[in-house]
Amino acid sequence: MTDWTKSAWRKKPRVQMPDYTDAAKLAEVEAQLAKYPPLVFAGEARRLKKALGAASRGEAFLLQGGDCAESFAEFSADNIRDTFKVMLQMAMVLTYGAKVPVVKVGRMAGQFAKPRSAPTEVIDGVELPSYRGDIINDLDFTPDARIPNPQKMLMAYTQAAASLNLLRAFSTGGFADINRVHAWTLGFTESDEAEKYRDMAGRIQDAIDFMAAAGLTSEVNHELSTVDFYTSHEALLLEYEEALTRVDSISGKTVAGSGHMIWIGDRTRQPDGAHVEYCRGVLNPIGLKCGPTTTAEDLKVLMKKLNPENEEGRLTLIARFGAGKVGDNLPRLIETVKSEGAKVLWTCDPMHGNTIKSATGYKTRPFESVLSEVQEFFAVHNDMGTIPGGVHFEMTGKDVTECTGGVRAVTDEDLSDRYHTACDPRLNASQSLELAFLVAEELAGRKTPRLDAATA
Ligand code: PEP
Ligand code: CO
Repeated sequence: MTDWTKSAWRKKPRVQMPDYTDAAKLAEVEAQLAKYPPLVFAGEARRLKKALGAASRGEAFLLQGGDCAESFAEFSADNIRDTFKVMLQMAMVLTYGAKVPVVKVGRMAGQFAKPRSAPTEVIDGVELPSYRGDIINDLDFTPDARIPNPQKMLMAYTQAAASLNLLRAFSTGGFADINRVHAWTLGFTESDEAEKYRDMAGRIQDAIDFMAAAGLTSEVNHELSTVDFYTSHEALLLEYEEALTRVDSISGKTVAGSGHMIWIGDRTRQPDGAHVEYCRGVLNPIGLKCGPTTTAEDLKVLMKKLNPENEEGRLTLIARFGAGKVGDNLPRLIETVKSEGAKVLWTCDPMHGNTIKSATGYKTRPFESVLSEVQEFFAVHNDMGTIPGGVHFEMTGKDVTECTGGVRAVTDEDLSDRYHTACDPRLNASQSLELAFLVAEELAGRKTPRLDAATA
């Protein structure tokens, strides 16, 4: 891209970014980060783009999930393992439903910076700047903690590097073996409450047994024991993104070295703003959140800017309208995409439009609303002949109590038991897997050109 530089965003209007007070310290950190190795490589980002292209055609399905905000305090091998594990379980169930490969992308190893609905927070009459994620400031409610500190970018980089290292080891070191993953899934379906999922779990086991009988075991077939696992985060803190930007030695193109896929949030997608300016110039797959306030006009401009060559897999539109609002919004945006002849992958984030305050005072999301939004998303696409290509969840492998509902019902009163999120409420392991079973049912009924052709 000839009219782009990694610093050009600095001349554009920016929102949701911190005003660092110590310019010298900031410059020092940026210089340091610029010398560090990138976390991901251009070839990997390209491979993911290809996989997302397949998802946009209905020949794969995207599962994107992880914390709302990764935090320094919650960082541990166990947490990474558990989220990775539940994503693999979900992917197996979804693969069974979709009959196509599931592309696995974690909101991990870089999901540290948060946009906020208000610049300040008031508690008991005291007003302080909002918490903006561990890469920027601290959650503690004290004036010092809320001052943006550039040094925290180095800590985030280190945590991201260590997380990715472990994820890469888990992906190829035997942990992801299809037999192990299914054995874990059974632990959920064997419980009394999960009776309705037992049938599908049994059918998955039959499929695995059949493959083994036919000689397709993980010993002889590498693909049954390893997985491709990618990372993603919102590209919000552009100083961090710029410092990790690299030039690919093979193509000469620029790549965001901070994660395989980056996305632009609902609050930072101004077509002429800093975030769009940065993202348009890197070769990675780009996600774009689309909400009730996304206009057809903006979407047209954004698609042109972010995907000028109309490349498959480059642009993922992440719809997040809220249950009951999909029918009013998604069709008009699908029409816009159709009228532009734009190639996009449509996915559904059923989390961010469904946040409510519980009677007990916690920010939560009812499982039923999350499920409804996904079902509305599939129904609209099936009606309009377009492809529902993926889902985007805030979730964790831990047994937290942050979202209500699910077969192992979390009630309003339970929320205080294990409410650990640094930002938005996440589905726990059981809710995540349950949702995968329910999405698999939707996928089994998905009308895709490929499956239609196969049955014609
Ligand atoms: C998020 O994904 O954590 C987020 C803030 O989403 P959105 O930009 O869609 O509100
Ligand atoms: Co969130």
